[in-house]
This record gives sequence, structure tokens and C-alpha cells, in this order.
Amino acid sequence: MRTGPGFLEHHVLADGAKVTVRHIADGDADELRRAFTTLSPETRYRRFLWDVSTLDDSMVRYFTHVDGHDHVAFVAVGDSPDMKSDVGYGVARFVRLAGEPDAAEAAVTVVDALQNRGVGHLLLHTLAEAARERGIRRFRGEVLAANGPVRQLLAEAGAVVQRETPESITFDIALDRDDLPLARWLRLAADRLSALPGLHALHDLAPR
Ligand SMILES: CC(C)(COP(=O)(O)OP(=O)(O)OC[C@H]1O[C@@H](n2cnc3c(N)ncnc32)[C@H](O)[C@@H]1OP(=O)(O)O)[C@@H](O)C(=O)NCCC(=O)NCCS
Repeated sequence: MRTGPGFLEHHVLADGAKVTVRHIADGDADELRRAFTTLSPETRYRRFLWDVSTLDDSMVRYFTHVDGHDHVAFVAVGDSPDMKSDVGYGVARFVRLAGEPDAAEAAVTVVDALQNRGVGHLLLHTLAEAARERGIRRFRGEVLAANGPVRQLLAEAGAVVQRETPESITFDIALDRDDLPLARWLRLAADRLSALPGLHALHDLAPR
């Protein structure tokens, strides 16, 4: 298995920045807490779909203590200025669904300062490979604003709608050999979905 416990990959972004992708570890808890405090209200809201302003200890523990099979998470990290520690750039995780062992909920977050530089792509590509290697065939996601444009955008991304409520749409994206549908989903998440009705009140979501 290429994405087993010792997985570690070094990348250079288009702008020359060096990034390492590896599994999350218990020791990442403090950096996860710190990086979370740098996220804009919009990024937090788009990740969690509600206003999460702090990560409490139980959330940090859940996010960092993964089993590497049903719950897998990768971090993208860079070096700190003194080269002594890692700085978190982003995290991607999947959690296998109880009762649907070939499906998993997936989420990706990149810190605002590093967005739109290719980190999301790196993380999602690695996550998809790890999922396939562990028997997962589709990622499940959720978006707010169950209105016409969202449905249309999801259809363009090749997503299959599973559930729709007045507040949100739950969809699946197949993990085919190529990552095109995933890339489309990421682009939508990075750009257009956040600009749709339903997310316009983001300025009200600043930490209190
Ligand atoms: C979605 C997210 C993870 C993307 O991460 P990223 O590192 O910025 O993504 P990348 O730089 O790899 O870009 C991915 C694609 O989105 C496009 N993109 C990125 N930021 C964009 C922006 N602000 N506007 C338009 N397009 C954008 C890129 O051009 C790229 O498109 P391509 O595939 O055609 O090249 C990041 O924006 C984020 O953390 N958002 C908040 C949380 C979230 O929405 N997560 C997804 C749902 S869980």
C-alpha cells in the first residue's frame, strides 16, 4: 500500500514553496489548534457548515487520533522559520460511513494564506488514493443552499445527489481512476459555491 503509515511526500508548489504531505499524528494537536485560529470565518464556515469558532480538546483529539483505515487524515506542512517544527498549511480527511463501508465523508481545509496555490489539490489527490487503497469508492460531501444553481454546479462536477433538505444537499463523488470529478468539486468549493446565496451572511460569523 503506497499510502500506508509511513507515507511522506515532498512537493514544490508552482510558486516554489516546499510542502510535505504526510499522515496526521497525535503530536500535531498544538499546530492544529494554532492553524485553526488563523482561518477566516468564511473558511471555517465553508469547512464545517456552521460557525465553529474554536476547537475544543475533544475535537482536537478526534481530528488527530485517527486509525489510518476508517478515519484517515493527511496534513500538508511547511518548515517553521527556525526549521525546528512543521507549520500546518492544510488538512484533508475521510471518515468511512457506518453501514456503507465503500463510502466516506471527506473534507479538505487549506489555511487562507496558502489557498489557491495547489495545496488543496495535493491533499485531495492523496486522500483519494488512500481511500481507494482502503476499499472506498465514493466520497460524500454536503453543501449549503439547496437551490437551483447548487444542483446545477454539482451536476457539472459529476456529483450524485443523495439527500436534499431546505438547508443543504448531500452528494457523492465517485473515486474513479482519474481525479477529474474531485478536481471539479474542489474548484467549486474554492470558488463558486461560497459565492452562492446562503453563504452571504458570512460577515456575521466572526469569532465572538
Ligand atoms: C476548497 C479549498 C480546500 C481549496 O484549497 P486550495 O489549496 O485553495 O485549492 P487549489 O489551490 O489546489 O485549487 C483547486 C482549484 O480551485 C481553484 N481555485 C482555488 N481558489 C480559488 C478561488 N479563490 N477562486 C477561484 N478558483 C479557485 C484553482 O484554480 C484550482 O482549479 P483548477 O483545478 O482548475 O486548477 C480551500 O479553498 C478551503 O480550505 N476552503 C474552505 C473549506 C472548504 O470549502 N472545504 C471544501 C469542503 S469540505
